[in-house]
Amino acid sequence: MGTQDTVGTPPAKMDFAPTYAAQLVVMEQPFTNIVTAKSGTCPTYTAGTNTFAAGNCANNAAVISGVLSDEGVQQQFNSAMAFRRGRWVQETFMCGRFPSEQGGTPVKYPGGTYNSPWPWNSISGKESLPNARVDFQAADVLICANCHSTLNHIAPLFGKFNSMGVYVAATTYQVTTPIPGEPATILADWLPPGETTAWRHMKPATTLPELGDAIAADPGFARCVSTRVWNWAMSRGDVVNDGLTLTDALANQLSAQLVADGYNVKKLIRRIFNDPYFVRF
Ligand code: HEC
Repeated sequence: MGTQDTVGTPPAKMDFAPTYAAQLVVMEQPFTNIVTAKSGTCPTYTAGTNTFAAGNCANNAAVISGVLSDEGVQQQFNSAMAFRRGRWVQETFMCGRFPSEQGGTPVKYPGGTYNSPWPWNSISGKESLPNARVDFQAADVLICANCHSTLNHIAPLFGKFNSMGVYVAATTYQVTTPIPGEPATILADWLPPGETTAWRHMKPATTLPELGDAIAADPGFARCVSTRVWNWAMSRGDVVNDGLTLTDALANQLSAQLVADGYNVKKLIRRIFNDPYFVRF
């Protein structure tokens, strides 16, 4: 069997997540495993024989959910309040920037318009929680809540990975809040009492594996994977950094076929390389 990662041995392994992604494509496994697999997410690859050797991550079994729980990922995107980890999820699996939910009833504030579907008081701030340490309800210059209504419901799920990316099964969070003294983040820094974690409004996720399932079930996931493969095949730039999205018609067609193929990305690649648009050039 393949090598095992060792919890707590810095630096966390950076190769497992990309190797696992490559394995899913080459071995024609459902690409949804990238966010849902409960084991085998730390494989190794031997170029000489072109083989993958299965391997389990040594991370806490209760949180394993594809690369979402990967130590290398968690270490690389470590930041205050685990927000960069939340941003990584949004940009990697949904192919877009925050804000990610904009279908709410618009409400005007001096700093702009709030249009997230989340109730205004669903995140911590001076109105929802008088002693809030960070005011995510500030609305004088810009509307933090347009992004943070989503982000604050996701980030706590990544808050127990420490700066080395290791999941610590303690009641305390391992990330810090960027106020004087940089204290450990508490749940009330993200959410007021009674609020629970979620992927999106009306899509609760109480654990990281539940978050992974919600991401895999989001239509944006298949669309994102299709977009990235199309852009790569056509030598276009990046969907997030360069804003190179596909037309709705093309994205819908590619992602519907990807879902019908059981998220087999190898077939997606073959289909795109045989597309008349590709063959023409
Ligand atoms: C356009 C979306 C958006 C808006 C608006 C926004 N944020 Fe954020 N915020 C983010 C994202 C994404 C991150 C993570 C950025 C990163 O680390 O790459 C972040 C990070 C943070 C952090 C952690 C910074 C650190 O030191 O790592 C704090 C605190 C924060 N935001 C508070 C606020 C507050 C308060 C407001 C309103 C005044 C606000 N944000 C407005 C998206 C937003």
